[in-house]
Amino acid sequence: MSTILRRLPPSEATGLRTGARHSLAEVYRPADLVVLGLGVMIGAGIFSIAGEQAATTAGPGVILSFMIAGIACLLACLCYAELSSTMPTSGSAYTFTYVIFGEVWAWIIGWALILELQFAAAVVARAWAAITVGAISHFGIRVPAADLVQDGLVLLILVLLTGIVALGARVGLRALWIMVSAKLLAIGAVIVVGVAHVDVANFGDFYVPPQPLDTAPATVLGVFIGEGQAFGWFGIFAAASAIAFAYIGFDIVATSAEETVNAPRAVPKGMIRSLVVATVIYLAVALVMIGMAPYTEISEESPLAGAFRAVVVDWMVHVIDVGAVLGLTTVILVLIVGQTRVLFSMARDGLIPRGLATVSRRYHTPTRVTLVIGLVAIVLAEFVPVLTMQQLVVIGTLFAFAFVAAGVIVMRRRMPDLERGFRVPLSPLLPALSLVATLWLMVNLRVLTWAWFALWMVFGLLVYLVYGRRHSLLARPSTPPPRHPHGRHRR
Ligand code: ALA
Repeated sequence: MSTILRRLPPSEATGLRTGARHSLAEVYRPADLVVLGLGVMIGAGIFSIAGEQAATTAGPGVILSFMIAGIACLLACLCYAELSSTMPTSGSAYTFTYVIFGEVWAWIIGWALILELQFAAAVVARAWAAITVGAISHFGIRVPAADLVQDGLVLLILVLLTGIVALGARVGLRALWIMVSAKLLAIGAVIVVGVAHVDVANFGDFYVPPQPLDTAPATVLGVFIGEGQAFGWFGIFAAASAIAFAYIGFDIVATSAEETVNAPRAVPKGMIRSLVVATVIYLAVALVMIGMAPYTEISEESPLAGAFRAVVVDWMVHVIDVGAVLGLTTVILVLIVGQTRVLFSMARDGLIPRGLATVSRRYHTPTRVTLVIGLVAIVLAEFVPVLTMQQLVVIGTLFAFAFVAAGVIVMRRRMPDLERGFRVPLSPLLPALSLVATLWLMVNLRVLTWAWFALWMVFGLLVYLVYGRRHSLLARPSTPPPRHPHGRHRR
């Protein structure tokens, strides 16, 4: 087998729960995983992107966009559930791909996950700073030099959350439970108060006829079939792909598998439950938002608050602000956790410097890699216009979804006897549908997004050829798998 296609032996991935490679503390129980999932999913997607897409791309049809993205993500979630129940490892899609398709593909997926997690942390930190400044100004306090204040807030939140993650999963978990509960209360208020002000006339014909392109950027599909337009069915599909951002996160639950008690059963349950709850919440919020104000009047900057202002329930603006500030905080927190676990796995396999896989004896977390991630997120959020790059996060995520769906089909054929804590029903039909739905969302992303993604991937491939291929643990077959001196930790 060509070196770049060498595969990680399944025992390295399936044996993590009992094997010597396991060195992280077991802290998560099933309910924690649901909180983790809701913590990372409910954020900028529902608080801002949904309204922005309704105003510019889909109109009231944004509700259909939420359903389309939700179905695609549910299919992907089932596939993740099967593979993570078989290979409960921190590397998630990266490690699944290593076992199923080989090293170079694993590297490519790892590289796509870095794009997803590292960029998303920066994007959401930026959005968090803007929302926080907005929240202060909603109290009538004028924020001088708002741009500078936002830069400072980005630094503050990323330093704080990186510190929390570095100190150990338990510390973050407590904070997470409290903040997720508060954000759910705020979202609950949006739904309950909002529903009383819904005017059915605002749903209009639901379907807004297509309009010429200058309001929406071209998608790959639009260019391919020579149609460039906003609204109409193309708009609804394009919005579905952008809205996939809101669903990002159930996949990150899989990266906590090594730290979860009874992972083969708990991880699939945690992922599926959190995704179902998030989907119901998103549909309810989208219905209420569209129902309160005509889509043409939705403010792109603060859609939910704007909708409540339109029905003169101004005090809800503060509730939304609190929900959004806390909500986005938990998103960043879990994104950083997820990113540390993926990089930790890649470092453990030698594809990036092994020193990054060091687990702190004191905190039982990969402290070193956490600090690196925090630093990179700060640089990205401070110096790159990340808010215009949300779709890059989506394409990185969808790329991994595609490999996971294909991985289920291949794994069933190649390793039918592996123990699976969860099996996708109707396989290979559902995994195949997942693959098609994912590819469909991908072609509905912008051409520019694809171009940036291709550049990122080419760069990644070069890094692999120069470093990873030679330093891979599999390049040294005589080397035993890394052993942590302390074995497993239970706290
Ligand atoms: N799903 C997360 C959000 O919407 C990334 O902020």
